[in-house]
Amino acid sequence: MGGIVGCFARDGCFERLFSALNRLEYRGYDSAGIALLSGEGAFSVRKKKGGVAAIAGEPLAGSVGIGHTRWATHGAPSDVNAHPHLCGKFALVHNGVVENDAALRAELAAAGERFLSETDSELIVHLIARAYAGDFFAAVSAACARIEGSYAVAVLCADHPDTIVCARRGSPLVAGAGGGALYVCSDIPALCGSAAYICPAEEGEFVVIRAGEIGFFRADGSPVPGKVFTRVRGAARPHAVGAKTHMEAEIAEVPAALAGTLASLKEADLSACRAPFRAARRVLAVGCGTAYHAALSFCGLLAAEGVPSLCRPASEAAALAAGEGDVLVAVSQSGETADTLAAARAARARGAFLLAVTNVEQSSLASLAQAALFLRAGPEVAVAATKSYNCQLLCLYFLAARLLAARSTAPAWEQSLAALPALARRAFDSFSAVSALAAAWQDARGMYFLGRGQDAVTAREGALKVKEIAYIFAEGLPAGELKHGPLALVEEGFPVALICTSRALIRKCATAAAEVSARGGRVALFSQYGEALAIPAAFRIRLPAAPEPLMPALAVIPLPHLACRLALLRGHDPDRPRNLAKSVTVE
Ligand code: F6R
Repeated sequence: MGGIVGCFARDGCFERLFSALNRLEYRGYDSAGIALLSGEGAFSVRKKKGGVAAIAGEPLAGSVGIGHTRWATHGAPSDVNAHPHLCGKFALVHNGVVENDAALRAELAAAGERFLSETDSELIVHLIARAYAGDFFAAVSAACARIEGSYAVAVLCADHPDTIVCARRGSPLVAGAGGGALYVCSDIPALCGSAAYICPAEEGEFVVIRAGEIGFFRADGSPVPGKVFTRVRGAARPHAVGAKTHMEAEIAEVPAALAGTLASLKEADLSACRAPFRAARRVLAVGCGTAYHAALSFCGLLAAEGVPSLCRPASEAAALAAGEGDVLVAVSQSGETADTLAAARAARARGAFLLAVTNVEQSSLASLAQAALFLRAGPEVAVAATKSYNCQLLCLYFLAARLLAARSTAPAWEQSLAALPALARRAFDSFSAVSALAAAWQDARGMYFLGRGQDAVTAREGALKVKEIAYIFAEGLPAGELKHGPLALVEEGFPVALICTSRALIRKCATAAAEVSARGGRVALFSQYGEALAIPAAFRIRLPAAPEPLMPALAVIPLPHLACRLALLRGHDPDRPRNLAKSVTVE
């Protein structure tokens, strides 16, 4: 998995590929590579283990090239497993997973092919080389027909030094043009700042850059009619200022991002949703990781208002059996997460009404959905989702309010949505106390995050951030579950973050805190209520107050800050956690 890019440019082809790879790096940073093709059909290749910086240096010559940044699935991160992979007259970069890898490997090995890497991707370039009889496009198309699984590929051929042939199925691919160059790329945000116009390739389509022109084709080589390039929307990827990491910068952007979401919601057109909302048998929600937590919060809110709703991680969406009469809300910052797309496609195919909540307006998820709400949170570069979570919650609160209005009456708390950016800014007042908490907890080997009701979801989100960024084992639990097993791990000094934003649950939270304190555990309490003083705690973090149904968007704010401080104190780069990638385009 990872990100691919291809470029045709008479000037600076290497530099353009390199800068696109830098912007794609959030898709993987195990290794990187670039291949350029000279006019005489000679390849120059540089590929190395490590991030994109590892392939910096003297530009390679050529005006046609391909590049890759890798998140390892088949084969460890290494120079040899880095893309591009070469075979005979061909060089290839691939994003996706070849599911019939074992069968193809055995077949090709029996036919005498020898492989240099352990990757599934290398098999594709061998398939292409074997299918080649002078027609470059036909060879790529024939090889793609043999692949089970997902792919976006960009391929060079020494016999055609002015051409890049690309194809996609299950992995995203977008064509771009601007600034004297033509591009293909895994992702729109990576083209922001380079291409002025873009046009996504649909499932099963091929993109060919040839002699300074770009075209879309079907597998049989016939042109796809009606493809239109549109102006790139969205800002270029920002760079964290000063010593700040992207994660710190993105946490600091939460209030501005929420203001962007509010502006987007003012323009939102939900007219297509009215009838499905009114008639919905069930409201279902899916997402992955942090986006799943946002979806859980949404369903919790609807359930509290008496609307039948269910949530599952997108990878488990089959259990929802979404179909006719259901509304499925698919939540994804990137709009390209493979599990979420698979759940959305399956639900649509069975007749559910699909609504997307995403940050990327031209994403695959947005184009698949019958209606969409856009976060307009600005680019999120750090691997861990931060500001996008707050903005997803705001979108989902808005959606819940509109849904309730369509079915009966709008909830009173809808009026308070506009106050969230200012309240979020006030949540930053807690940061010095949270930094002190991180200093006290930096040597912990494990920790719990507890909450009841909607705070249990915030607890899960806090635990996810600590795990992925600080590499400390952390579990987010409903506080009432503590005594049913997890309490066994609590001993002298064990850290427990307890979130309590519901006045009605203060007493119950006090019981959980007492259970922890009695075993020597150290409780840090996160609450907006003075009355929460009744809860025994070693640390107290005061939250700003909003109507209780909206509190998850505020209560979560100190938690990524805690994770980020823990990561920095333990010497880890919070922007690039090990083993992870920002956009997970394999199921
Ligand atoms: C966690 C995190 C991931 C993503 C998940 C879904 O900090 O960032 O769990 O939330 O991979 O990504 P999107 O929202 O792009 O579908």
